[in-house]
Amino acid sequence: MATKTEPINPRDGKHESPWQAGLTDIKTAGKTIGEQTFDALIVGAGITGLTTGLLLQQAGKKVIIADAHTPGFGTTGGTSAHINTFADTTYPEAESAFGEDGAQLFKEAIAEGCQLINDQAASLQIGCELESKPGYLYAEKDDEVKQLDEIYEGAVKVGVAVSYVDEVPTPVPFKKALLWEKQAQFHPLKYLQGLQKAFLTAGGVILKNILTTAVATKDDIHTASHATGSLKAKTVVYATHMPPNINVFNFECAPYRSYVMAVKLKSGKYPDALIYDSQEPYHYVRSHTIDGERLLIAGGLDHKTGHEHPEKAFAELEKYIRRYYNVSSVKYRWSSQYYVPVDGLPYIGQIPLAADGIYCATGYNGNGMMLGSVAGKILSDLILKKENRYEKLFSPARVKPVDSFSEFVKENADVAYHFVADRFGIHESDSLKRLQPGTGKVLEVAGQKIAAYRDEQGTIHALSPVCTHMACIVNWNGEEKSWDCPCHGARFDVDGKVLTGPATRPLAPISQEGKSNS
Ligand code: FES
Repeated sequence: MATKTEPINPRDGKHESPWQAGLTDIKTAGKTIGEQTFDALIVGAGITGLTTGLLLQQAGKKVIIADAHTPGFGTTGGTSAHINTFADTTYPEAESAFGEDGAQLFKEAIAEGCQLINDQAASLQIGCELESKPGYLYAEKDDEVKQLDEIYEGAVKVGVAVSYVDEVPTPVPFKKALLWEKQAQFHPLKYLQGLQKAFLTAGGVILKNILTTAVATKDDIHTASHATGSLKAKTVVYATHMPPNINVFNFECAPYRSYVMAVKLKSGKYPDALIYDSQEPYHYVRSHTIDGERLLIAGGLDHKTGHEHPEKAFAELEKYIRRYYNVSSVKYRWSSQYYVPVDGLPYIGQIPLAADGIYCATGYNGNGMMLGSVAGKILSDLILKKENRYEKLFSPARVKPVDSFSEFVKENADVAYHFVADRFGIHESDSLKRLQPGTGKVLEVAGQKIAAYRDEQGTIHALSPVCTHMACIVNWNGEEKSWDCPCHGARFDVDGKVLTGPATRPLAPISQEGKSNS
């Protein structure tokens, strides 16, 4: 496995992604902020935050980016880094919910996101291993063939170049396949560092390890508080996936985790393409040279955060890879989080019910690189008072089409189940003594539920399992060593510190005797 030394660019889980290896730090400190009021405060330094911040700063605005951790700590540091002209929400699905014009516009937004990455990489001369690759999607069963045909028809209808092919560079037997030319892949953190450098050069400010917890608005100025002070700005952008605290998006987006492994093959023959199957949940493979070493990157097995066992997902993924490829070693394994919007399209723009000038971008599904980039363009246009043709389509205030209602009910029924069932004893009772080193579990001790983790030295870290966002009960993620909330995706480390919003407060510690074997 990869080196265990603490990477310069940490991320929101214990497993290191290959993108973290070998990067040097970018110095962000050194500017005096004082009492000044910025034109824009961007919360979150992933691809959305950096793209938005850079475009605004280049347009002459005074921008500050504050991240609760470090740039790329969230999903940008754990993405599988595909750049596609097709999306997880298929064009037929987009058409059924938003009509032909909506599907067409969605396709153009995805294409614009791809183009923006290409343009930024070229104009800023970012060495981010951006490479054009063919993309294949294949079907193994009859029902998948039907779905594939629908995807083909939907893509042709909106003008995406796609064709049927007989050959796919995969050892998996298939019945039918599609080819998209000119897809791409890149190194997401090298790209992000390129944006950071350009942003800083243009005069922008980046603050690391600043968790903004609340925003108050007076006389059109927003004041965001954090542990050691506050930041003032005329506009605020939450580029954090889910905006913090309780808001409408808690009920419109469902958190999912996705799993990835990078392995070395005995054969030395790596597919030079992006390849996807049509299973549910699906698998994909591609290859990437990392630190001079060619690796097969395979992923999928997505499931809702806090549901199912991450260990099982990795075990199944590895079994799948070994069934088709002769693996000599597993170099990396990691997981990351994304949000599925209930009606299929992202929410980008002014936050409903918030003060004017407070924006967000969330619900990217599995297409965060393209949608995060185009979100940067949309948000910067809105702040610059320029027209943007995607504003209405992605408006967070849009009225959801009736078709999406059943999906809305399904996602929220699940949240309600966890709120009630996890609280009233669906978890089995257990005692601390059976908790093995390096593992965690929600236990009942003396009538009290606790989220207990026993570290490798035997010390118990005991926390309240009640999520500080909206009081669901967290579950243990044994792979990333985190407490994950099944309701809206908040995640906490073993000491309760917030890794992923929408929670902004840590899990409460519960005092009990450490190093207990009883
Ligand atoms: Fe909403 Fe935990 S993330 S209750």
